[in-house]
Amino acid sequence: MRVAFGLLVLLLGLCGSRAQGESGGLGEEGESSELQEEWTQQTTNTTSPDILLEMKELRRMVQMLQKHDSEMERRLNSSERELLDSKKRIDKLENLNKANTKVAFYTALTDAGYVGPFTTDTTLNFSKVFTNIGNAYNAGFFKAPVKGVYYFQFTVCGHHTGLMGVYVYKNNKNIMFNVEWKEDQLYKYFTNSVILELMAGDEIHLALPATHVLYDDGSNQSTFSGALLFPL
Ligand SMILES: *[C@@H]1O[C@H](CO)[C@@H](O)[C@H](O)[C@H]1NC(C)=O
Ligand SMILES: *[C@@H]1O[C@H](CO)[C@@H](O)[C@H](O)[C@H]1NC(C)=O
Ligand SMILES: *[C@@H]1O[C@H](CO)[C@@H](O)[C@H](O)[C@H]1NC(C)=O
Ligand SMILES: *[C@@H]1O[C@H](CO)[C@@H](O)[C@H](O)[C@H]1NC(C)=O
Repeated sequence: MRVAFGLLVLLLGLCGSRAQGESGGLGEEGESSELQEEWTQQTTNTTSPDILLEMKELRRMVQMLQKHDSEMERRLNSSERELLDSKKRIDKLENLNKANTKVAFYTALTDAGYVGPFTTDTTLNFSKVFTNIGNAYNAGFFKAPVKGVYYFQFTVCGHHTGLMGVYVYKNNKNIMFNVEWKEDQLYKYFTNSVILELMAGDEIHLALPATHVLYDDGSNQSTFSGALLFPL
């Protein structure tokens, strides 16, 4: 008898957690644990037919809840089931497609020497495109083809006396500014990188701050590159 009661109390616990899962609420939790306590207390006493009856009812409720999901799917008529099946197929294909997305680019700024100074912040058009798998890079702008985690790196070169610097933009928002004051005309470089979680369509580009100057020539001294690490 004691074993049977133990099982029924367990069922009651299941019922409580199931109800909580369905509604997402916390209210039932307190209620069900209170109930459980009451039932546990009563099980220390000997059988009452009322309790057995209620336990039976509870067991029935648990079974009903567990059947609920499969029941819902069984009730679909043939055209609804067809729709559901094609939706599942499409979701599967989309996930497969996403997992196979390959995105990587590597570019350098120009062969023309100095870039800047300009009177306003100016998008840097890295015009030598050496690698562009997935064609996500175009004329200075990288546009994320899928939601995912992306890695970007740049190196910029200065070859003048004065300011060299670069902004990193995500969409229209500046997310990084790096700057150096150069005392001489010798070459100077800096590199930085970011790992960003992007939505499909988000854009990343680099910009030259007003009055700053960068340098590149046939040696590929100022570069911008990036890759999709993994889709989300
Ligand atoms: C068991 O239940 C009976 C009837 O409800 C009650 O009279 C008795 O005191 C209870 N015994 C214990 C140990 O709780
Ligand atoms: C299936 O159900 C949908 C909506 O409940 C209804 O529009 C459609 O006519 C039904 N199709 C069949 C074949 O019963
Ligand atoms: C960017 O560079 C590419 C390659 O040289 C060129 O075709 C394109 O016109 C440039 N775009 C802008 C906005 O300057
Ligand atoms: C610049 O990069 C391109 C592509 O990798 C390469 O063909 C070219 O030789 C490089 N220039 C120099 C001077 O290394």
